[in-house]
Amino acid sequence: MSYELLSIERDENLVTVTMNRPDAMNALSKALVSEMHRAFDELREDSSIGCIILTGAGGNFVAGADIGELKQRLALESLAAINSALFKKIEEHPVPVVAAIEGYCLGGGCELSLACDMRVVAKSSKFGQPEVGLGIIPAAGGTQRLPRIIGLGRAKEWVLTGWVYDADEAYRIGLANMLVDDGKALEGARELVGRILKRGPLAVRVAKVALNASSRTSMDGGLALESVGQAMLFESEDKMQRMQAFLDRKKG
Ligand code: COA
Repeated sequence: MSYELLSIERDENLVTVTMNRPDAMNALSKALVSEMHRAFDELREDSSIGCIILTGAGGNFVAGADIGELKQRLALESLAAINSALFKKIEEHPVPVVAAIEGYCLGGGCELSLACDMRVVAKSSKFGQPEVGLGIIPAAGGTQRLPRIIGLGRAKEWVLTGWVYDADEAYRIGLANMLVDDGKALEGARELVGRILKRGPLAVRVAKVALNASSRTSMDGGLALESVGQAMLFESEDKMQRMQAFLDRKKG
């Protein structure tokens, strides 16, 4: 499939998706969001993919939803929730999705990064949910995912003040998984993803489903899911081979 606002590169089982609207700091326009829906649908069908890195072109991740379009948007269109649906699609994508972040990561861009499984951030990157300054709220998962990642007290500060925070703070409070030098976010994300790609692909997928369930279901429901996932993995060819390889190594 061809895209105008995205570029998609494949390196063996790693796919890098780059949002490419640098003149607008990759602000999420309807056209960009619609291409991302298509891209993640397409990527979902390819079970040979092990991990996805999501990044932005031109030195920024995403400076927010497109404010020109937001101004025109009324209640009915807002309830169509296309950004929110995209972020949920990314969160539920079968393989880990890692955000590689340089520059601005604001508003809808910050919410997009929260829907990714991990965030690798460059030292000068900037984060925040400035929506209340525009008379709206972060409504593509921001009020729900942010507290689950950084805690309710801090999420209230972020959303209610609309303040912009630097990368050190994002790292300190656990929003960022890895802090790297400017210009190195993609390299850092590749390093992180490289560790995942060495692991059992089926185990990684099942672990992501179980971890996602931790914030959605009851403890009993999550434990049952974890247990059934493990039972399935116990009979997988990959598990047999990996455990045998370990045992053979010990013998040798
Ligand atoms: N929507 C649409 N366009 C945006 C945008 C957004 N969220 N963020 C940046 N842009 C565009 C600007 O309009 C400008 O385009 P132009 O040159 O055609 O006018 C370009 O990106 C560069 O932005 P500019 O404001 O000139 O750069 P800056 O370095 O002075 O400031 C920001 C950068 C990110 C601080 C500033 O652009 C900003 O505050 N953006 C909005 C952030 C926001 O509130 N996001 C949440 C939306 S829900």
